[in-house]
Amino acid sequence: MQRVVDEQRGGAKAGPPAALQPSQVDLSVDVGPLKLHNPIMTASGTAGLGLELEPFFELSVAGAVVVKTITKKPRKGNPMPRLAETPSGLLNSIGLPNKGIDAFLEVTLPRLAGKARCLVVNIAGTCTGEFAELAGRLDGQPGVDALELNISCPNVEGGDLPFARDPLVVQRLVSDVRAATRLPIITKLSPNVADVAAIAQAAKDGGSDAVSVINTLLGMSVDWRTGEPGLGTVVGGLSGPAIKPIALRMCWEVARRVDIPIIGIGGIVSVEDALEYLTVGARAVQVGTTHYKTPDIVPRLVQALRERLAAAGRQRVTEQIGTLRAS
Ligand SMILES: Cc1cc2nc3c(=O)[nH]c(=O)nc-3n(C[C@H](O)[C@H](O)[C@H](O)COP(=O)(O)O)c2cc1C
Repeated sequence: MQRVVDEQRGGAKAGPPAALQPSQVDLSVDVGPLKLHNPIMTASGTAGLGLELEPFFELSVAGAVVVKTITKKPRKGNPMPRLAETPSGLLNSIGLPNKGIDAFLEVTLPRLAGKARCLVVNIAGTCTGEFAELAGRLDGQPGVDALELNISCPNVEGGDLPFARDPLVVQRLVSDVRAATRLPIITKLSPNVADVAAIAQAAKDGGSDAVSVINTLLGMSVDWRTGEPGLGTVVGGLSGPAIKPIALRMCWEVARRVDIPIIGIGGIVSVEDALEYLTVGARAVQVGTTHYKTPDIVPRLVQALRERLAAAGRQRVTEQIGTLRAS
């Protein structure tokens, strides 16, 4: 403004615009009804219940913390081995071990509440009714800001196929959850489907406020000498850098076909990765497998995001969203 005034007075000549300072960049984003102070979230299951990250950074630094999947009853998880490394990704078949919703509400939530600026509880059921029941139990709980539905798990009422595969099942599941809670609903999509945008549309039609894209891709590994599979369950979920191009493509497919806020997930290790997701249309991102190598990845990404956006002359992170140049 001073420059304009000076010029009108015939005073100081206009120089190059003053460089934007990283601290001046506004990182806040809306994801449907959720207001995040920055777009960097943790991904479910890769940072335990969230508290495990406390030695590395204050949870309030994250845009949101997503806890590992909570089920109705306690679960022991799958047989060992549950993790197998691949050249650019991680295979897992953890099997959603957790102490169940009662223990979560009585023990974990009181310890977590108020620590994260936004706390998202990820839930899974064996049937639609169980999802709705969990949603009802979490409705109105102090400290819970949103639900994320893990629909990649098997539907025991539907021949054990994952809920995520069938648009009609997804729509019914989300609408049952919608009827049970006032909390914002994020539906976490599986990449192991033919048409991810059709599933996103079904989630929207059921009343989902946002979708998170993607959960892990089905994969396996084997030792050819012994014939031993890498995982106790033989097949598991692939995550990490190997899946990023697929996840980016899926975010873009959803962005161009469905009018719903997207949270991008898959293989994020650097700020460049996060910016790529925003470019294809995601409003926020979740970081998963990278926690195992860099447990303070969240504050690193938040700071790097400020610096990169300032250097690019962007005052707000929202200016980056959906800037993909494609016909
Ligand atoms: C060890 C491990 C455990 C996971 N547990 C869950 C879980 O409990 N619930 C869930 O919805 N996703 C779970 N995921 C999937 C991640 O949240 C994420 O969608 C996926 O790993 C892709 O992101 P990434 O490549 O950044 O890890 C898990 C992933 C890993 C590697």
